[in-house]
Amino acid sequence: MKYTKIKQIAKGWSSYIWIVKNNKGKEFVLKEVREKSPRKDLAKREGKMLLLANSIGVGPKVKEINFEKNFVVMEYIKGEKFFDFILSERFDNEITQIQVYNLIKEIYRQLLLLDKINLSHNQLQIGKNILVKKIFDKEKKVVKYFPIIIDFEKATIKENHTKNIGQLLAMCFYNPNGVIAKRIREKLNLTI
Ligand SMILES: Nc1ncnc2c1ncn2[C@@H]1O[C@H](COP(=O)(O)OP(=O)(O)O)[C@@H](O)[C@H]1O
Ligand SMILES: [Mg+2]
Repeated sequence: MKYTKIKQIAKGWSSYIWIVKNNKGKEFVLKEVREKSPRKDLAKREGKMLLLANSIGVGPKVKEINFEKNFVVMEYIKGEKFFDFILSERFDNEITQIQVYNLIKEIYRQLLLLDKINLSHNQLQIGKNILVKKIFDKEKKVVKYFPIIIDFEKATIKENHTKNIGQLLAMCFYNPNGVIAKRIREKLNLTI
């Protein structure tokens, strides 16, 4: 399939992220390795791990993996980073306790699924690799927020030693210096 680059949306230390369109005009996200990056196996690593995650319904759906050109094309998730969501003004004013509780519970559920296949994501601790999507009702009112875990580049398969739940609980509740944990504890009236 041929993809046309529309715009760059991110530039990591090892990769570029583009919004692309296929020949039918449908949008996807393309993640490719940066020329200077020493990581020459992005497509192999990320592609393989994302496919595994997809097999249990987790992560943006893989559309294409190109080993030769070293890129992965996946579903475009229209959402904001968990980190930005928690730090937003909306989080203080509009978002309800139950929406926050359900969002975290759904992340927990997806991580338990990853645990079942021994897939450790390894980079969940700062909240930038989870996108939060708004779910609307018929009247276009936001009814809930749904998480999609992204960036499986550093994921590993480790039997019974995944960091998934530990990283989530630290980020959301226990991290003594973490701004996310502080705001979630306040929102949910938790004392730990
Ligand atoms: N499937 C996707 N849909 C929408 N945005 C994405 C998607 N994948 C990545 N992004 C955006 O690009 C950023 C960087 O992607 P990521 O896979 O985390 O690469 P990096 O290795 O640079 O952290 C993400 O924080 C997100 O904003
Ligand atoms: Mg990332």
